[in-house]
Amino acid sequence: MKIAMVGSGYVGLVSGACFADFGHDVVCIDKDPAKIESLNAGVMPIFEPGLAELVATNVRGGRLSFTTDLAEGIAGAGAIFIAVGTPSRRGDGHADLSFVHAVAAEVAANLKTPAVVVTKSTVPVGTGDEVERIIAEANPAVRFAVASNPEFLREGAAITDFKRPDRIVIGTDDEWARSVMTEVYRPLFLNRAPLLFTSRRSSELIKYAANAFLAVKITFINEMADLCEKVGADVQDVARGIGMDGRIGSKFLHAGPGYGGSCFPKDTLALLKTAEDYDAPTRIVEAVVKVNESRKRAMGRKVIDALGGLDAARGKKVALLGLTFKPNTDDMRDSPSIAIARTLTDAGVEVAAYDPEGMELARSLMPEVTMTKGPYEAVDGADAVVIVTEWDAFRALDLERVKTLAKTPVLVDLRNIYDPAEVRGRGFAYSSIGRV
Ligand code: UDX
Repeated sequence: MKIAMVGSGYVGLVSGACFADFGHDVVCIDKDPAKIESLNAGVMPIFEPGLAELVATNVRGGRLSFTTDLAEGIAGAGAIFIAVGTPSRRGDGHADLSFVHAVAAEVAANLKTPAVVVTKSTVPVGTGDEVERIIAEANPAVRFAVASNPEFLREGAAITDFKRPDRIVIGTDDEWARSVMTEVYRPLFLNRAPLLFTSRRSSELIKYAANAFLAVKITFINEMADLCEKVGADVQDVARGIGMDGRIGSKFLHAGPGYGGSCFPKDTLALLKTAEDYDAPTRIVEAVVKVNESRKRAMGRKVIDALGGLDAARGKKVALLGLTFKPNTDDMRDSPSIAIARTLTDAGVEVAAYDPEGMELARSLMPEVTMTKGPYEAVDGADAVVIVTEWDAFRALDLERVKTLAKTPVLVDLRNIYDPAEVRGRGFAYSSIGRV
């Protein structure tokens, strides 16, 4: 089947390349000529493990191409995916749907053959109805249906998540759309990935509810971690102990500096707005958003405490290892490192940082921070070393070298990747999350 993917950002590109890898004929469309030009030259606009190879293989196989021309890209496509951004609207936190609506209008103006238009972008409940209205009004003659098909891709593991999903959610009440979408996902269906058909509105809400629930889980264990530090318990044991209960599950119970990234912060806010609009407040999510925001700054204060408090911290130097919101991505969106760096520099602390992929984007977000060539360059002369993101490259640091280079052997491990007894045994003052 020919599939058109409108929007060649993170979601569109990964999904398009994976569909092509299944044997579909995929055209990825983007209005940014520079992006399309670089994709045609084999250069990825984002860092995602395995993506460049997957794209190259499928371009070579003639199943994947890129264009800025929407009319040409959607011509003859059986399914047209909308995978453009839905950022938080400045000021009110509502999802900004202007890109989605603009694509719907352009698709309507150029659609000549029957197609299922699928919203893959994360969109608030009711957006599918609006997309349907826009197309029907502009192009009443053409046969089309609008389905919702949210993505559940984690950055850094997006290709595996796409190819081995826990479930595929498809929201439509239209029989023809169901059969087209079944055909689109047939290769995964044969892998026994469950296809869950729901109404369009349920599907739209599933995406937000899933992300909000995961954010609740993380925030819950983060608060348990704070409690562990006070009562002398170990949050990793607590997480293991509760996670072994099948009703709770062990995933997303890693305590850390607070969640960031392109989805959880934006989607929890958008869910709150929908809940407010429909007069059905979701107080748990409200609390989660507040707790997570204040946690990021609290992590900066934790580092200041490790330096001996505010007065002692002024003029000292801190090395931040890891800046991206998680490893294996260059994404800096809502990364806890931003609030941590700001809290430190506001307190007169000098900050040096290293991240394997994120420094380019980080530079403009934290101009007062000195970026270094490698982890040991950041550590050089530091009064405290802070692990902010759990990149593999930081899991087995040469601690003797760190000790020699640093001015004082202080390690603050915000991801719990080191063993407290071992690190203390090497002469470090060590603090982590929810462990004493
Ligand atoms: C998330 C969802 O997992 C994915 O299904 C959705 O489509 C997009 O949003 P992503 O933002 O890429 O994916 O990363 P994820 O691995 O979920 O991590 C999000 C944040 O939560 C990161 O800041 C991470 O460090 C944090 N996190 C995650 C924790 O602090 N503890 C955990 O146990 C898990």
